[in-house]
Amino acid sequence: MENPLNGHVVKPKKHRGLFISFEGGDGAGKSTQIFRLSMWLKKLGYSVVLTREPGGTDIGAELRRIVLTGGYVDARAEALIYAGDRAQHVTELIMPALTEGKIVLVDRYLDSSIAYQGAARDLGKEEIFNLSLWATDGLMPDATFLLDVSVATGMKRVGDQGDRIEVAGQRFHERVRQEYLELADDYPERIQVINAERHPDDVEQEIRATVETLLEQFKDRVTKSSDPIAELGEAAVQQIRAREAREKAQAEQRAQAEQEAQAEEETQAEQDELDEQGTQDQK
Ligand code: TYD
Repeated sequence: MENPLNGHVVKPKKHRGLFISFEGGDGAGKSTQIFRLSMWLKKLGYSVVLTREPGGTDIGAELRRIVLTGGYVDARAEALIYAGDRAQHVTELIMPALTEGKIVLVDRYLDSSIAYQGAARDLGKEEIFNLSLWATDGLMPDATFLLDVSVATGMKRVGDQGDRIEVAGQRFHERVRQEYLELADDYPERIQVINAERHPDDVEQEIRATVETLLEQFKDRVTKSSDPIAELGEAAVQQIRAREAREKAQAEQRAQAEQEAQAEEETQAEQDELDEQGTQDQK
C-alpha cells in the first residue's frame, strides 16, 4: 500500500480478522454507532471486540487520563502519548483478536492522530502518519467510517462539558474536519464518509450495508463465536453506555432550556398583546 502523503510503501500487517475503525470530530456520534454495530454483529454470531483510543488497555487508560484530563501537555508529548497508547493497544488487544479471526471495532485509530496532532496541532501529517505506522508496526484498518458533522453540530452535541481536546475551539475543530475529509479523498477505498447529521437510525443503516459487503468479502477470514457473551469488552461497553447516558442528560437539559426559553417568549408575546389591547381600549 502506498502512503499518498509521502509515497512510501507501507507493508500491511497480515491477519485473519476484520479491522474497522470509526473516525470523526468530537460529537459526531461514533460511540453510539459503534455500539449499535457491535450489537448487531454479535446477534449475527460474530466474535466482536469493541474498543477505543485512547484507553483500550490498562496502560492506555493511564495515558488517556494524562492526555485528556491532566494539565498542560506539550503538543509533541501529546502525539507521542497517543502513539504509545496505540502501540500498546495493537500488541496487547487488537492484533491478538485479529489473529483469532475476530472483528475488531475501534473508536478512533491512526487517522485521529493525523487529523488532530498532524493537522490541527500543526505537527506535520507525514511525520504523524509515519510515527503511528511505526507504533503499530504497519497495522491499518480494513475499513474506516468517517462520521462527518459540521463543527457547529459537533460542538452543540458535546456541550460545554468537553475534555481538554473537545474544548480546543472552533478553528482547531475546523482543521480536524478538513483533514479528515482530505484523508477520505486520499484513501477512497478504505475511508467511507458518512453524513452523520442525519437521524442515528439512518446512519446505522448505511454503516450496516457496507459491513454486510465486507463480511461477504472477508467471509473466509472472519470467525463466528461459540460463546454468546463473547469478547465484546464489557468495560468498553460500560464506558460507552455511561457516555451515552451523559450525552442524553445533556441533550435533555438543552431541550428543557429551549422549552423554557420558548415558553418565556410566548408569555412575553401574550403580555405584549395584552398591553397593546389595553392601550387601544384606553384610546
Ligand atoms: P473521547 O472522549 O474518546 O472523544 P470521542 O468520543 O470524541 O472519541 O476523547 C478522545 C479525544 O482524543 C478526542 O477529542 C480526540 C482526541 N484524540 C487525538 O487528539 N489524537 C488521537 O490520536 C486520538 C486517538 C484521539
